[in-house]
Amino acid sequence: MTPAAGTIVTQFDPETPLAIEFRRLFSRLKYKENGRSTTPLLVTSASHGEGKTTTAAFLSLTIARQSDQRVCLVDMDLHRPRMHKLFNLPLKSGSTELIQGVASLESVAKETGEERLRVVTAGTMVRSPSSLFETDQIRAAMTTLAETYDVVIVDSPPLLPVSDTMVLAPEAEAVLFVIMAGKTPRDVVVRGKTLLADVNARIAGVVLNNSDGVLPYYYNYKYYGY
Ligand SMILES: Nc1ncnc2c1ncn2[C@@H]1O[C@H](COP(=O)(O)OP(=O)(O)OP(=O)(O)O)[C@@H](O)[C@H]1O
Ligand SMILES: [Mg+2]
Repeated sequence: MTPAAGTIVTQFDPETPLAIEFRRLFSRLKYKENGRSTTPLLVTSASHGEGKTTTAAFLSLTIARQSDQRVCLVDMDLHRPRMHKLFNLPLKSGSTELIQGVASLESVAKETGEERLRVVTAGTMVRSPSSLFETDQIRAAMTTLAETYDVVIVDSPPLLPVSDTMVLAPEAEAVLFVIMAGKTPRDVVVRGKTLLADVNARIAGVVLNNSDGVLPYYYNYKYYGY
C-alpha cells in the first residue's frame, strides 16, 4: 500500500532530529526491558495538551519502521479523539465499538500506509465516554489487543480531568508519562504521578516534551528513565 499523502506517515522524515530522538526513545525503552518491547504501553500525562497523542503516534511509527514487530496504535481518548486526524482516517468504528464488543479488532484496526502499523481510531462518540471504562470491558479489549499485536501503544486522556486513564493504566504493562516543559506546573505533574501510583501503574519512562521551549516550530523530546 502506498502512503497516503499529507499524513503523519509521510511527514515523519527519518532524517530529522525529531525522528532521531524517537529512535533513541525506542532504544532506551527496549534497553530497560532487556531488549523486549513493553506492551501494552500506555501514553498519558497529567493535564491537557502535553503531547500525548503526538508522542504515541511518533513512537508507534518508529517501532513499526525500526523493528519487524506488528504495531497497533489505539486512540482511547474518547473525550478528545485526535489520532484519526494525524493519520487522516475516519473517526468511526474504533475503540468505542471494540470496548462495547460490537466490532472485532480485525474490523476496526485500520491500515495507515505504514506496513506494520495499524491504528484503532476512537470510534463513534458517545455522550458519556467514561461509562465505557468499566473494568471488565476495558480488560477484554486490552487482552485482545495484546494477544493480536506484537506491540500495542495506547493514547489516553489526561489523568487529572478524567478517571478513564486510572482504569486503563492497570491493564497496560507500563506507562510513558509525557510532560510539556514550561507549561505544566510542578504540583500538577506530581498529582498525575500520584494518581498512577494509586493504581500501582509502572512508569517505564518520562518524556519531557518541548524541553527547549521552542514551540511550535520544532519538536524537542527528551527521555528520562524511571
Ligand atoms: N514538542 C512539540 N513541539 C511543538 N508542538 C508540539 C510538541 N508536542 C506537541 N505539540 C503540539 O501541541 C498540541 C498538543 O499536542 P497533542 O495533541 O499531542 O497533546 P495531547 O497531550 O494529546 O493533548 P490532549 O490532552 O488534548 O489530548 C498539538 O497541536 C501538537 O501538534
Ligand atoms: Mg491527545
